Amino acid sequence: MRGGWSLRTRLVVSAVALIAVVAAVIGTVTTLALRTYLYGQKDEQLQGVAQRAAGPPQGEPGGGPRSPGSLRFVTSGGAPLGTVGVQILVDGSLGDGAVSVQQESDALGPRVMDRPLTGAERAALADVPRDLEPHTVAVPGLGDYRVEYRPGANGAFLVGVPLDEVHSTLGTLVVVEVCVTAAGLAAAGLAGGVLVGVALRPLRRVAATATRVSELPLHSGEVALHERVPEAEADPGTEVGRVGAALNRMLDHVHSALHARQESETRVRQFVADAGHELRTPLASIRGYAELTRRGREQPGPDTRHALDRIESEATRMTGLVEDLLLLARLDAGRPLAYRNTDLSPLVVDAVSDARAAGPDHVWRLDLPDDPAVVRADPERLHQVLVNLLANARTHTPPGTTVTAAVRVSQCRSGVVLEVRDDGPGIPPGLLPYVFERFARGDASRSRHAGSTGLGLAIVHAVVTAHGGTVDVTSTPGHTVFSVRLALVRGEPGDSQTAHSAGTRV
Ligand SMILES: Nc1ncnc2c1ncn2[C@@H]1O[C@H](COP(=O)(O)OP(=O)(O)OP(=O)(O)O)[C@@H](O)[C@H]1O
Ligand SMILES: [Mg+2]
Repeated sequence: MRGGWSLRTRLVVSAVALIAVVAAVIGTVTTLALRTYLYGQKDEQLQGVAQRAAGPPQGEPGGGPRSPGSLRFVTSGGAPLGTVGVQILVDGSLGDGAVSVQQESDALGPRVMDRPLTGAERAALADVPRDLEPHTVAVPGLGDYRVEYRPGANGAFLVGVPLDEVHSTLGTLVVVEVCVTAAGLAAAGLAGGVLVGVALRPLRRVAATATRVSELPLHSGEVALHERVPEAEADPGTEVGRVGAALNRMLDHVHSALHARQESETRVRQFVADAGHELRTPLASIRGYAELTRRGREQPGPDTRHALDRIESEATRMTGLVEDLLLLARLDAGRPLAYRNTDLSPLVVDAVSDARAAGPDHVWRLDLPDDPAVVRADPERLHQVLVNLLANARTHTPPGTTVTAAVRVSQCRSGVVLEVRDDGPGIPPGLLPYVFERFARGDASRSRHAGSTGLGLAIVHAVVTAHGGTVDVTSTPGHTVFSVRLALVRGEPGDSQTAHSAGTRV
């Protein structure tokens, strides 16, 4: 498939094909020119023999009178070996014919003799036009001839000289041309492959740089985008260099854009952290003063009491919100967690006990393994994950809902799954894809009334991701499951977190 060829192969094949075409043209022209030249020479030779056949020029020394119709000219006077001569009788029909041949004779060495033409040989010559022009004729058994009709003093003759010398010369030339062309093409293919490979090396370097960049994690965090095409491959004077230079310019822009994004993210995060810090103290003051006023000596009226209750509850809610925002800002900034080997079972037992105390109208169940499920985690943060998931199962479901907290170790003992299931009404389908996003809430008005902010699952997601785990949710009416997957620590718990009480299995 041509489309699948590499640029290198295509360039080399094109160059070799071009050279092959040029070599073929040169070879053909050379062969044709040589053929014309050799035929010319043969025709001159033919003229000489024909002249001798027709009769010697006046006064030629040693020419001697010859009997009319004699065929001796085929073996004498420099006629080439294989010369043929045929008498033409007065009525135009063919008379005797002879061809010169070489005969081996032991005593005298090779000798040129003539022998009579066979019927087939004479028949082949009979058709030659009698127009005094040389014609090419194939004589069976003797090969191709240049044959001419020549009348003269000795009578009329058909005289022919063999073309086998011409054919063998042309044949040798064609063989040499083909061999030289084949060797040249092979050499051109090899040299072309090497040269094109060297010429394309900068392009490969540019591609390698682009590949390395594409493998960098650019989507978040501080990105060290220091990959660049080497200076030697970014010379704008060459085609490949222009690609390299353009890629480098693009990488500079991407780097500065990512840097700007990171800076603005850091600023926002810092702002949220600072604002959270600053808000903590006034919020604590508001709560404190509200409580002081409520418990003061002067008994407030019912309206004031109600207002103070509202001030206290809203201040408490706002404190929770500020704490959540601070935690998210810290997790976003990649603050290190306090990792310890932590057994999940006691953690789950404690969290469910607390949840049962907070939601006595729900049915709380535990489903724990017999062996410890030890993970490398920050126990406080994991506790928060559990608290958030259990709080959701409590606050977003009606009383009487059964909530099950389960811990399962995967079959290959490489991971552990922490599940919180409930048979409540489920998460609205429109919300499900965004449920882990910040400030994503179901029924906004109801949730706000219930003091919800929509940060609970965002914190779950951030904490689990910081632990290198994953969290998923599936939800249909009557069956909502949050699954947190974490890596299991193999072997003994070691410094396992066992501070939590065993708790009661509910
Ligand atoms: N178990 C559940 N059953 C039904 N809906 C749920 C459940 N868990 C979460 N949701 C829905 O997902 C939304 C987002 O939950 P998330 O915990 O992030 O926020 P929240 O509970 O509203 O507020 P916060 O937890 O910050 O007080 C909720 O508002 C609720 O609509
Ligand atoms: Mg919640």
